Amino acid sequence: MTNAVSPPVRPRAAVILAAGQGTRMKSPTPKVLHRIGGRTLLDHAIDTAQTLGCERIVVVVGVHSPAVGEHVRQRLGEGATVLQDPPLGTGHAVLAARDALADFDGDVVVTYADCPLLTAAVVEPLFALRGGSSRGGGADVAVLGFEAANPVGYGRLIMAPGHVLLRIVEEKDADETVKQVKHCNSGVLAADRATLFDLLAQVGNDNAKGEYYLTDVVGLAHERELATRAAFAPEPAVQGVNSQAELAAAEAVWQAARRQALLVEGVTMPAPDTVHLSWDTRLAAGVTVEPFVVFGPGVSVASGAVIKAFSHVEGAAVGEGALIGPYARLRPGAEIGPEAHIGNFVEVKKVKVGAGAKANHLSYLGDGSIGAKANIGAGTIFCNYDGFEKFETHVGEGAFIGSNTALVAPVRVGDGAMTGSGSVITRDVAAGALAVARAPQSDKPGWADRFRALKLAKRGKA
Ligand code: UD1
Ligand code: CA
Repeated sequence: MTNAVSPPVRPRAAVILAAGQGTRMKSPTPKVLHRIGGRTLLDHAIDTAQTLGCERIVVVVGVHSPAVGEHVRQRLGEGATVLQDPPLGTGHAVLAARDALADFDGDVVVTYADCPLLTAAVVEPLFALRGGSSRGGGADVAVLGFEAANPVGYGRLIMAPGHVLLRIVEEKDADETVKQVKHCNSGVLAADRATLFDLLAQVGNDNAKGEYYLTDVVGLAHERELATRAAFAPEPAVQGVNSQAELAAAEAVWQAARRQALLVEGVTMPAPDTVHLSWDTRLAAGVTVEPFVVFGPGVSVASGAVIKAFSHVEGAAVGEGALIGPYARLRPGAEIGPEAHIGNFVEVKKVKVGAGAKANHLSYLGDGSIGAKANIGAGTIFCNYDGFEKFETHVGEGAFIGSNTALVAPVRVGDGAMTGSGSVITRDVAAGALAVARAPQSDKPGWADRFRALKLAKRGKA
């Protein structure tokens, strides 16, 4: 999810931690390449960094999942990843990015790649803290905290009045008093680049886990009389994903938030909880989405269009006032023109459907085009594939395709032409012509009566 934020005053960079193993997912896919709203957790984290206006983004990856580094380099280019090998803690992970940011002058924010619900709007207050002067409520080190319903497992924020943060104590190092603290560390932290790496160089691993804790920079900064403060976020926004159950829970939160946003923007959804969206689903104000509709990635729907119940729409553009479904399937490259109708059990792939054209029942329309106002009869098939190559079918404006026509591509049906029901069309049809390609009907008078009499007689004997 993106939220517009004002342009940063000081240059910003992000270090995104992604070197953890994620073994609790029990999946051959690396944890951060799992998806929420059809987009990887990692990409959600990068989106947030970009929305925050980070001009440099460094993702810390581990040796165990080369696919993670590859994914980042595909999106952000070479040099956007650093390797942490072996992983020795969150402080050690951030230090791995030191050289990559050596020439950067500005604020660095640290986030985790497995927190897909962390939005820019939630992180922005940390930069607000950084922006204030040390005397006037600003912070050299700003930490994003949250109040946990169940704080077990989290680092605890030891606070003094005025949002002043004294230090962070990890669960495993906490005594009974500290364990009572409900203020927890989200893991998100911002500081000036030079200060951050300076502090990190001092962090040791003399603790219960024997790890280099990023969280130790807070205590160290406080000792140096630097200002250390916390801002607070709602718990769901900073929730990490560690298991399939948590992934599903995060998806539910994400979907609910997106649906809510669309309702606010003027999309009509009588049963929003049953509608599944993707990260880039674009529905204009005035679109109606009936229950149980699934949007895969890459869909835009224009105003006045109705997506009826149980439709599956992916990689498609739907024009103004078009009617889709119920039970329609739009696949990548389906471009449905204004006021067009795509009805039940019609599959459309890579076909441009003209304004007001209709394909109301049971068809496969793959590769090609359908002219404005054309009518595609029930059971029409675009035979687009010979097992090796794909070929195109083009149906002209106002053409009428009879029910159960097989259009064997490559083939063109001219403007205003018709095909007879049950035809197998293998040659182009001229504009205005009728093409009939089916066996002529032969009638055998009395045959049915004789047949039935024979069968009944046989049954009588038995
Ligand atoms: C960390 C914080 C804790 C906070 C919690 C919030 C520290 C020491 N503790 O604890 O205060 O409440 O997150 O969820 O920072 N990672 C690396 N390399 C490493 C270790 C971790 O890249 O060597 C990455 C992981 O992939 C993960 C993130 O850092 O994305 C957090 O690591 P994790 O081990 O889950 O930290 P916690 O012990 O949960
Ligand atoms: Ca964790």
